[in-house]
Amino acid sequence: MEKLTLDDIKEYLETKYIGRNIIYLDKATSTNDIAKEMAEKGVPDGLIVIAEEQTKGRGRMGRKWITGKGEALAVSILLRPDIEPNLCPSITSLIALSSVKAIRKVTGFDIMIKWPNDLVLNNRKLGGILTEMTMEGMKVKYIIIGLGLNINQEDFDEDIKNIAVSLKSFSGENFNRRIILSEILNFFERDYEYFKRFGLSYFVEDIKKYSIIFGKEISVIDGYKSVDGTVVDIDKEGGLILKTSDGNLKRIISGDVIMEGLYNIYSNKI
Ligand code: BTN
Repeated sequence: MEKLTLDDIKEYLETKYIGRNIIYLDKATSTNDIAKEMAEKGVPDGLIVIAEEQTKGRGRMGRKWITGKGEALAVSILLRPDIEPNLCPSITSLIALSSVKAIRKVTGFDIMIKWPNDLVLNNRKLGGILTEMTMEGMKVKYIIIGLGLNINQEDFDEDIKNIAVSLKSFSGENFNRRIILSEILNFFERDYEYFKRFGLSYFVEDIKKYSIIFGKEISVIDGYKSVDGTVVDIDKEGGLILKTSDGNLKRIISGDVIMEGLYNIYSNKI
């Protein structure tokens, strides 16, 4: 198993600060929790925490997240952006985009984004992002971005077999995690600097281009509510604009997307 310390990845890393401080662990509860502990101790912007195994890895909406030991990536990035709390979802959209561009560059595969923050390959889930924010007064104190990515797993547990994919299960090839991790950080640091200057609007055309749901008929489930419609736009804060059957436009800021032909976390089927 190749390790992922700074020494191991520095030949590929082009960043100034993101990933220049790495905590690399064999085992952790959740890398997001470790990053949060470090953030509370005052560790600066750009720390990343990586674990080969997570005993309490979590996904969105309290779901569990399994990381294949030595075969996947479980990474958290600590950021201290000077932004309003309502812009946090934009950072999730941003890292989804940076990751897609990075993995496309390394693999050449047609990776797409499933709004808001899943990475998709061959209509299955390649990765997911869990962003957690802590506030101080009305301001963002820090953000932890957690990224889970399936790389060299050959197969998956029964309960996710029909919805998950890895770069290897798709192609039969093994991929170098050091290169993939470094490229994601390289792309993300560049994009994050532009984001701080110009906001997400600078990136929305690319986000739409790589969005697998753009122009499609979907349902979005958020808690007990569900909205059906066609995706007509993604706005400059990353919100989804749906045209419903009565012709009205509806803006959605969170939820799980259900789309024909795409994995569905509720049914474990395509
Ligand atoms: C999702 O698709 O629901 C998001 C999955 C996020 C998983 C990553 S793995 C690294 C970080 N640590 C966690 O406990 N979760 C995120």
